[in-house]
Amino acid sequence: MNAAPLPPLEEMDPALTEEIGQCLDQWKDKEGNLIMMLHEIQDRHGFVPREASLLLAEATGVPMARIYEVLTFYHYFKLVPPGKHNVTVCNGTACYLKGAGRLLAELETRLGIRDGDTTEDRLFHLETVRCIGCCGMAPAMVVDHKTLGKLSPTDMAGILEGIRKREAENDQ
Ligand code: FES
Repeated sequence: MNAAPLPPLEEMDPALTEEIGQCLDQWKDKEGNLIMMLHEIQDRHGFVPREASLLLAEATGVPMARIYEVLTFYHYFKLVPPGKHNVTVCNGTACYLKGAGRLLAELETRLGIRDGDTTEDRLFHLETVRCIGCCGMAPAMVVDHKTLGKLSPTDMAGILEGIRKREAENDQ
């Protein structure tokens, strides 16, 4: 899928332009400032908008290609808005041995996305991490900050349905 073209710099959202200006004021003379500025942008938006990268490139003289290199190297950074509900499957050793791969496969099938992706309606974001510190509960996952353990693939439908049901109730 091709990304939409970016607006010219002068047509960028003034609030975003101001935000990047503040970031620069705060970080411009500090070591490792590019990554710190990207962290700050992500903390504010939940991801790093392309417009923000472009403004940053323009203001710092760092090429866009270098900014994207940093953004794609670190798993932490997101390039698209996160999903409303985060489903994080632990794929550390204990969980892996107890079938985390099957949980992930079931979720990927049910959501129609792969690890690291967000559903088109932005309702779910699916990702894996290495050990969430609850190995005794393996295989475990975290759904919207709640840790769930001793799971089997058959639990996945109910977990997703529960979220969808709550969303539908909130819409009424
Ligand atoms: S390996 Fe999954 S919680 Fe530790």
